[in-house]
Amino acid sequence: MTDYIVKDITLADYGRKELDIAETEMPGLMALREEYGAKKPLKGARIVGSLHMTIQTAVLIETLVDLGADVRWASCNIFSTQDHAAAAIAKAGIPVFAIKGQTLEEHWDYLDKSFMFPEGPNMILDDGGDATLYILLGARAEAGEEIIPVPQSDEEVVIKAQIKKRMAASPGWFTKMKNQIKGVSEETTTGVHRLYELQKTGGLPFPAINVNDSVTKSKFDNKYGCKESLVDGIRRATDTMMAGKVAVVCGYGDVGKGSAASLRGAGARVKVTEADPICALQAAMDGYEVVLLEDVIDSADIFITTTGNKDVIRIEHMRAMKDMAIVGNIGHFDNEIQVAALRNHKWTNIKEQVDMIEMPSGNRIILLSEGRLLNLGNATGHPSFVMSASFTNQVLAQIELWTRNEAYENKVYVLPKVLDEKVARLHLAKIGVKLTPLSKDQADYIGVAQEGPFKPEHYRY
Ligand code: NAI
Repeated sequence: MTDYIVKDITLADYGRKELDIAETEMPGLMALREEYGAKKPLKGARIVGSLHMTIQTAVLIETLVDLGADVRWASCNIFSTQDHAAAAIAKAGIPVFAIKGQTLEEHWDYLDKSFMFPEGPNMILDDGGDATLYILLGARAEAGEEIIPVPQSDEEVVIKAQIKKRMAASPGWFTKMKNQIKGVSEETTTGVHRLYELQKTGGLPFPAINVNDSVTKSKFDNKYGCKESLVDGIRRATDTMMAGKVAVVCGYGDVGKGSAASLRGAGARVKVTEADPICALQAAMDGYEVVLLEDVIDSADIFITTTGNKDVIRIEHMRAMKDMAIVGNIGHFDNEIQVAALRNHKWTNIKEQVDMIEMPSGNRIILLSEGRLLNLGNATGHPSFVMSASFTNQVLAQIELWTRNEAYENKVYVLPKVLDEKVARLHLAKIGVKLTPLSKDQADYIGVAQEGPFKPEHYRY
């Protein structure tokens, strides 16, 4: 029986070749296979993964399997799957449910399918929090409580329908899942935000590890990853000349910093909008003009949201843009741009994940990936090397939660600094980095151990 849904299983060989190459660029994951492969610390773990089904994720999946886990996988975004990666995973006998360009209904149905271990899962590896949300909303519904409105309102109807379907097919299923999940590791800023909200309201039923806030995740993937993949996405979508264009980056957090650097590196003249005075000051001192969106709306050529917030580019903004302005989002959810308000306009599809939309004035905008994260929708996401750092944290988080479960309360944790430094260490040799050893005397003088950790907890990098 085929226990997968992929676009085309014959793409598996192509996927496998790219997987082999990716492995050579993912030293952290390969080192974990070396260190733990024989010990199988994840034996008995049945992990539901909800994370962009890319080539890099395929290497993560095979690492989890190598360490003893049973895994079922769905993508966390309708446009982010690389069909050859999904095919390679399916052909390797690992259940995966992911197609690039799947509908929202399929997205939630595939997520549901990823939970269907014969005995149900006991761990979640999440990106953006959809897998966790599905179980918690379903359990609320089974308890007869109002389902909390979902942040992305246009998905609310679809999620509720999927929950109803599962409740009808398997009464009590969500509550059972909620009780047997031992922990979740969460990949991204937006998902982590959801987890801290749950912790605050007492609604977190299992321990969680915030992978995003490992330094070797957010200060690398969010920043250097976007630095490479943002312009990659814009170019593959539009082939537009970047040099000389005026680009506006909304938000100057980690993703904003990488995105602004990406555009600047391509020769664009970059402006930034920010709400936080610290990040605004950082942007200014990095040499970017910090502006109000309204003040540049009719003059800029490219607009990119990176905030993790909603309604950042609104319909009135898009109506005021100049003809053929490019609009895209690299934050986790599509509600940063008011795409729903564009639905009654004239859309011309140019190619997959690229649409031209006509405003009442006659001006047109080019919208990338319907407002979903464009580096994964229009390109292939971040390069393997930086994802290796992120995913090494993911695997360490899964090992922690699975093997030392009783050490954790139902709270959100970050990995200890010693593991963060370990992740960095595993990536040095590949790029020829040589560390300067501290003498005992020097280490004592700055108050650290010779072998690290090298910084106090409050250090911000
Ligand atoms: P962050 O919290 O470091 O940065 C967001 C920044 O946006 C903050 O500085 C905040 O002050 C600012 N902001 C909020 N509302 C704003 C508004 N209305 N106008 C201007 N600025 C505003 O978050 P981070 O880590 O940069 O992540 C941002 C988003 O990107 C999240 O949704 C995250 O999940 C996602 N992400 C996407 C990745 C990708 O590959 N596409 C990779 C990593 C994260």
